[in-house]
Amino acid sequence: MEIIRLEDISYSYDGKKNVVNHVSLSLDSGKYVAIIGHNGSGKSTLAKLLLGLLEAPSGKIFLFGKELKEETVRELRQRIGIVFQNPDNQFIGATVRDDIAFGLENRRVPHADMDAIISEFAEKVKMSDFLDKEPANLSGGQKQRVAIAGVLAMHPDIVIFDEATAMLDPKGKREIREIALGMRQENPGLTILSITHDIEEAFQSDEIIVMNEGQIMMRGTPNEIFARQKELLAMDLDLPFTFKLKDALLKEGFDVKDIDTPEGLVTFLCR
Ligand SMILES: Nc1ncnc2c1ncn2[C@@H]1O[C@H](COP(=O)(O)OP(=O)(O)OP(=O)(O)O)[C@@H](O)[C@H]1O
Ligand SMILES: [Mg+2]
Repeated sequence: MEIIRLEDISYSYDGKKNVVNHVSLSLDSGKYVAIIGHNGSGKSTLAKLLLGLLEAPSGKIFLFGKELKEETVRELRQRIGIVFQNPDNQFIGATVRDDIAFGLENRRVPHADMDAIISEFAEKVKMSDFLDKEPANLSGGQKQRVAIAGVLAMHPDIVIFDEATAMLDPKGKREIREIALGMRQENPGLTILSITHDIEEAFQSDEIIVMNEGQIMMRGTPNEIFARQKELLAMDLDLPFTFKLKDALLKEGFDVKDIDTPEGLVTFLCR
């Protein structure tokens, strides 16, 4: 089912240069989509447009089949959760518990159910011991964990992570990914958009969208995208380790052109 549709969306902050430039896109539900692109390529602006935090002067956005406009923005936004790179300005509550509760209150979750949901999600992100602490006194990564718990606890149908795990250690990044994928098992329609500079994470997504200068330059499976090495390098983008290794092996004359997985390369090398 089509969950997101953009029709010729552009946006300019200064009225001169379009930082999102005539973007059209259709996304089906239930996908884990990575959005990559160099600094300033328009990824966060696109996320804000999707949420109705910024309004495109022309073009149309449809979410869940409904057009995003003034009359629908509140209703549609209820079904989307976003976590930004810098969680500092996302905290409202005096404690971590209040903060997670705030989002639930907004979605009219009954008070009787709240404690259980808060405990469940605090545990998922390993922040149970911090529920009575002040969000301001947490480390960057801990803040991100709380912000992620707050958003996931609301059971959105679309989650946008805008570099939401940038401050997490590698294990933490994996954990959050697993939590999101676990939630998708419960709700197969859950769509995860992950704006990321982590090329290894993008490699593990269902689909990758590459942005450059406000436009979608490429879209495809990780293997399709990372096969277009020269174009990616021209856009200052890196390749996953597996592809670099494959490249090095090809240069040495090994016939690995049809192997696309780390396991496949290991098997080849151990032969
Ligand atoms: N509030 C703002 N006011 C004016 N210009 C802005 C604003 N926010 C972003 N821009 C400009 O819009 C362009 C796109 O920014 P955007 O934040 O969407 O990029 P991005 O792809 O998310 O980059 P990054 O990877 O660094 O997060 C940049 O040139 C940026 O300077
Ligand atoms: Mg950004």
